[in-house]
Amino acid sequence: MLNKVDDLLKEVESFNGTTLEETENFRIKMLGKKGLITELMGEFRNVPNEQKKEFGQKINVLKTAALDKVNSLKEALEDAADESGPKIDTTRPAEFTELGSRHPLSVVRKEILDIFGRIGFAVSEGPEIEDDFHNFTALNFPPEHPARDMQDTFFIDDEIALRTHTSSVQVRVMENSTPPIRTVSPGRVFRNEAISARAHCIFHQVEGLYIDKGVSFADLKQTLLYFAQEMFGDKTEIRLRPSYFPFTEPSAEVDVSCLICSGKGCNVCKNTGFLEIMGCGMVDPNVLENCGIDSTVYSGFAFGMGIERITMLKYQVNDLRHFFENDLRFLNQFKSAY
Ligand code: DAH
Repeated sequence: MLNKVDDLLKEVESFNGTTLEETENFRIKMLGKKGLITELMGEFRNVPNEQKKEFGQKINVLKTAALDKVNSLKEALEDAADESGPKIDTTRPAEFTELGSRHPLSVVRKEILDIFGRIGFAVSEGPEIEDDFHNFTALNFPPEHPARDMQDTFFIDDEIALRTHTSSVQVRVMENSTPPIRTVSPGRVFRNEAISARAHCIFHQVEGLYIDKGVSFADLKQTLLYFAQEMFGDKTEIRLRPSYFPFTEPSAEVDVSCLICSGKGCNVCKNTGFLEIMGCGMVDPNVLENCGIDSTVYSGFAFGMGIERITMLKYQVNDLRHFFENDLRFLNQFKSAY
């Protein structure tokens, strides 16, 4: 009787059904109501008393082995069937995945860089924590200039401040390269100003710089006209008004014809027909010299614009604070922008 159990155990161990049907038949043969194991268990009473214990243990081992074998074979065979058959319902509608979008300031920043990139301007960046030399002194700010005042600038100590404009990057570029230089420098700037619909203590600028032999004001004007028409449409006109910046001479303020009324006069342009978009000028020879460039050989122009300002004009956003609040109702409106 014990041998019979051992033989069955061997049979169980060596069984390797290759189909579900074969495995099920094996289960019935072993464990079914009239199966071999069930039958053997029925013989328990015929086993001599001294063998009953061993017989009982062996038959339990056999039963467990048979069950384990059948279950694991079935599982493996079912898995294999899963993989071979078409288990993906290709007719089911796709799950909706919400796509993120670029922030409007990133959209416009990229657009500005792309526009200048097409006429050969490279991109350069500099540190947000800047020293007095790069933010002010090299840019020809007289020591008593009000922009150095505590009111406007976040000073870290006497020498170090958060940069108040990206013009500091033009100094770094001029120090580290030889003309011709054609570069645009985007970045975050900081000013100690109260937050309102028109001002913020953190905002973004793009600075532009072109240095070469014989660069003239006409080059500046043509470059700015190209930019304005690429950014706001090819009917856009520009107007330059004399202005003052320590680092440029002569300096000008650049206006574009009003995007709403095309220059006829409306609320947005306060009936002037024009909207201010940036400052610009011919790089002051002092600045060239401060940065190690021979001002008797080279000349150049520079310009600087606020990305918020351009974005507000382009998309008619009337409150600068929208850019910093991360309200999805605002941001979602820029989903289609690239
Ligand atoms: N740095 C100026 C500002 O923060 C902007 C600017 C004006 C930059 C004229 C220039 C420039 O390069 O020529 O308001």
